[in-house]
Amino acid sequence: MRRKFFFAHRDLDFTLKDYKEGRGFFLYTGRAPSKSPMHIGHLIPFIMTKWLQEKFGVNAYIMIPDEEKYLAKKVDSLREVELHVMQDVLNIIAVGFDPDKTFIFKDIEFIGRLYKAAVKVARHITFSTAKATFGFTGETSIGLIFYPALQIVPTLFERKRPLIPCAIDQDPYFRLQRDIAPKLGFYKTSELLSKFVWGLTGPESKMSASKPESAILLNDSPEEAAKKVKMAFTGGRATAEEQRKIGGIPEICPVYHWYSILFEEDDKKLEERYWACRSGKLLCGECKAELAERVKAFLRQHQRRVKDAEKLKDKFLYDGKLASKMWNWSID
Ligand code: TYM
Repeated sequence: MRRKFFFAHRDLDFTLKDYKEGRGFFLYTGRAPSKSPMHIGHLIPFIMTKWLQEKFGVNAYIMIPDEEKYLAKKVDSLREVELHVMQDVLNIIAVGFDPDKTFIFKDIEFIGRLYKAAVKVARHITFSTAKATFGFTGETSIGLIFYPALQIVPTLFERKRPLIPCAIDQDPYFRLQRDIAPKLGFYKTSELLSKFVWGLTGPESKMSASKPESAILLNDSPEEAAKKVKMAFTGGRATAEEQRKIGGIPEICPVYHWYSILFEEDDKKLEERYWACRSGKLLCGECKAELAERVKAFLRQHQRRVKDAEKLKDKFLYDGKLASKMWNWSID
C-alpha cells in the first residue's frame, strides 16, 4: 500500500468506520484454478488478505471457482483443472491464514450451499448488463454467463460489509454486486485493488503462468526460478560501459519492479537501489543476482509452508471453526 501497488479502493473508509464503530467487516477473495500452477503475482491479493486478517482479526472467505476457467474455455477438461485445485488450496493456506477464521471452498463441491443465494443474485442481473460488463457474445457458454452470480454470493456470507483485496481485473464483478446487494438487504462490497505484477519479460508485461519465462511459478525449484530471474529483461543499457556512463532505467525494469513489490521491504534501501541504478554504479548482473537469491529464499520458505499446509487443509475446507459453520450456511 505504501508503494501504491494497491492503488485504488472502493469504500475502504466505510469499512474502517464499520470496524471502529463495532459493526465489523469480513474479507473475501479467490483464485480460479487453471491448467498451470499459481505464480508469484497470484499470491499478492492473498498476502494482503492475510495481513488484513491478522491486523483486524476478521473472517476471510476464499472462493476456488473450479468451473470458471473451464467455462471460459481456457482449459480443455475439468480433469485438467482438478490436477491443480488442491495445489492452489495449499499455496493459499501457506500464506498463513487463521484456520479457525478462514473458509476455503470449491464451487463444484459447495454449490448446494451457494445455489439459493446465486439464484437471488442472478435474478437482478440482466443479460444486457452482463454483456456490457464482461463482453459476453453469442459464442460465450451459458455457464460463464451465470458465473458472475456465483462470484458475488460470498459477499452475502455475513450481514457485514465485505472487503475484497484483488487485482483490478476483478472489479467488474463487484461493481455489479454494489448495484444488487442493497436490493437484497446486504452491504455493498468494499474493495482494495492492486495493479498487475509485471512479468520478467518486460515493463507492463503480464506475468502469465502459460508463458513460463515471464513468471515465477510457486512450484518452480528455487534454482529454476533463479535462472529465470537471471534471464529477465532489465532497464539496463547495451554495454556495461554505456551503463556506467549514463545509468540504467529502473522505471522500465521488471527486476526493480519486483524489488519494489515483494523483495525489498526497506524504503530507504529501495531508494538507494534506484539511485545506484540511475547513476550507473549498479549493473544489471549484480542486481539480478541479488534478486535471484531473494526469490530463492522466498520459494524455499513458501514450499516448506506448502508441505505444512497439507496437515491443515481439512480445517480450512471442512472442520475448522468457520468452515464447519459455513457447511450449514444458507441465505435467509
Ligand atoms: P485468478 O485466478 O485469475 O487470479 C487470482 C487473483 O490474483 C489476481 N491476479 C494478479 N495479481 C497481481 N498480479 C498479477 N499478475 C495477477 N494476476 C491475477 C486476481 O486479480 C485475483 O485476485 N475470478 C477470479 C477468482 C475469484 C476471485 C473472487 C478473485 C473468485 N472470487 C473474489 C478475487 C475476489 C479469478 O479468475 O482469479
